[in-house]
Amino acid sequence: MRAEETTLEDVKLIQLPKVMNPAGNITAINGGLDLPFEVNRVYYLYDIPGGQDRGGHAHKALHQLLVAASGSFSILLKDGRASKEFNLKRPYEGLLLPPGLWRELRDFSSGSICLVLASHPYSEVDYIREFKEFKEFKKFL
Ligand code: TYD
Repeated sequence: MRAEETTLEDVKLIQLPKVMNPAGNITAINGGLDLPFEVNRVYYLYDIPGGQDRGGHAHKALHQLLVAASGSFSILLKDGRASKEFNLKRPYEGLLLPPGLWRELRDFSSGSICLVLASHPYSEVDYIREFKEFKEFKKFL
C-alpha cells in the first residue's frame, strides 16, 4: 500500500517470541519470519531526559518496528484523519508502523530504551517534518 493511503488500521501491536528462563528472558526478532519487511537498520533511543518528546515527523517509505526494550513510553499516531495512542511497556511487544503516519513519542520512563528496527538506512529525504506538509501528503484521504 502507498504511504499516502496508510491509516491507523494498518498499525499492528505484535507479540514477539519470548524464551522464558529463570536466568533471564530472551526475545529474538528473526528477519524474514517475524517482520513484514527486511531490516536494514537498527537504532535505539536512550538517555532520554524526563519530559522530553521525540518524533514529530512521518516517513514516506520507512517501515519500522518499535519496542520498549527497557521501561516504557507512549506513541501518538496520526494518519491525517484520526489519532491513536499506544503505550509500549513490555520488551516482547512490538509496534509495527508502516510509512505515512505522523508519530510523537513521549512519556518516556526513566532509563527507558526505545529500540527501532527499520526497513532502510537513515535518509533525511524520507522524513516529513512539518505537520502541514504531512496533511498535504495524505490529502486524498
Ligand atoms: P530523528 O529521527 O529526527 O529523531 P527523533 O524522531 O527520535 O526525535 O533523528 C534525530 C537526528 O539523529 C537526525 O537529524 C539525524 C540523526 N539520526 C541518524 O543519524 N541516524 C538515524 O538512524 C536516526 C534515526 C537519526
